[in-house]
Amino acid sequence: MTPIYPPEPFRIKVTEAIHLIPPEAREAALKEAGYNLFLMKAEDMFVDLLTDSGTGAMSSEQWAAIMRGDESYAGARSFQRLKAAVEDVFGFKHFAPTHQGRAAENILAACLVKPGQWVPSNMHFDTTDANIRARQGRPANLVIDEAHDPENRHPFKGNMDINKLKAFIAKYGREQIPLGMITVTNNAGGGQPVSMENLKAVAQVYRENGIPFFIDSARYAENAYFIKQREPGYENRSVKEIAHEMYALADGMTMSAKKDAIVNIGGLICMNDDTLFQNVKNELILREGFPTYGGLAGRDLDAMAVGLYEGLDEEYLRYRLGQTAYLASRLNEAGIPTLQPTGGHGVYVNAGAIFPHIPNYEFPAQALAVELYREGGIRGVEIGSVMFACLDPEDNKWHYPALELLRLAIPRRTYTQSHLDYVADCLVAIKSRANKVKGYRFTYAPELLRHFTARFEPL
Ligand code: F0G
Repeated sequence: MTPIYPPEPFRIKVTEAIHLIPPEAREAALKEAGYNLFLMKAEDMFVDLLTDSGTGAMSSEQWAAIMRGDESYAGARSFQRLKAAVEDVFGFKHFAPTHQGRAAENILAACLVKPGQWVPSNMHFDTTDANIRARQGRPANLVIDEAHDPENRHPFKGNMDINKLKAFIAKYGREQIPLGMITVTNNAGGGQPVSMENLKAVAQVYRENGIPFFIDSARYAENAYFIKQREPGYENRSVKEIAHEMYALADGMTMSAKKDAIVNIGGLICMNDDTLFQNVKNELILREGFPTYGGLAGRDLDAMAVGLYEGLDEEYLRYRLGQTAYLASRLNEAGIPTLQPTGGHGVYVNAGAIFPHIPNYEFPAQALAVELYREGGIRGVEIGSVMFACLDPEDNKWHYPALELLRLAIPRRTYTQSHLDYVADCLVAIKSRANKVKGYRFTYAPELLRHFTARFEPL
């Protein structure tokens, strides 16, 4: 029998205690943090769904690999083992480790992006966006329109709009586009996958225009598994074969290994071009470390080498994507709307629909984040007006995002199905008293990236 939501394909050998502190202590902790969950202590969390990045549980094989770590400065055995794994999985000519994804993005932007130039993608993650801007470049998001409709069930809502991409290149000129990207899965758009058909079309447009094509690969294995599940012709291909096919289309990649390589720290940068790699190595030495360790310890490289294969394991991926689908289905059955279809790494709850009486300028998704902590010691992350509303200098008006979402990112192999049931039960309890929940106002808000440090008070 193949269950729809497969049980955990592992058993637990090491545990880490978590506690649900009493309601009064939760209330005091919220108040002390100015109702901003980023400013709270992890020890006050019962179920922490702030991010799936670096929060996964390593396997016994990864911990064993940690003990094999070779800490030599140059040419370590750990590097050779990681090199063999990266070549086997992705197949690029050159690669270097970095300490995490944004370090790879920084190096790539430093080597390729000149002031005023454009970098298109389906949707850039915020660190990629910021690293392009830090070089005075201009990121552009050309995802298909369906991605903006939370009810639309397009199976590949991370796809790039090919017509928009062609028009974009025609408008700005290929000389003004030093590289083109795509993010798999599309985190900023809800962990939605990109189809192989779309990857092929994007690669062709970039190739025809002589624009190097880089894939932001943080959740590439989840993307490959979605292709296997949803794209005709791929049902009998292995996820590893699908990954090979994806990467044969590209000129390079950046990757945060803290997601699908299931490590607590690490990243990768890969490419085929010899000259570019020479420059990348020089930049790497300046900022990260010698190219055979890239800012990591040898043991981290070994954990990554093993994690790359574990992240591609199909039994694991079936369970992994089943976990997010399970949590979403429990919520949807209780009438709690979530972004459809459910993405790979998290469930995005539509807070605007739960609290229709709270206007966007009183932050409904922030109210839901606070309420979920209050109810059950659970931490999610607001993806709504706290994060994205901005004052337009041109018309001096506030512009609000279309959706008020609470992201519940599921760390890999960390929480069991009963934790997810608990999360669902807490959200159902909040729904039953939703009309009594009130919004928030800022008592402090920095100008940029304000969700990290803002403070609030309840209205
Ligand atoms: N690209 C994507 C698609 C990401 O989701 C992230 C990180 C990065 C790049 C940057 O990688 O953190 O290793 O420097 N996403 C995390 C998140 C932080 O919570 O979604 P990093």
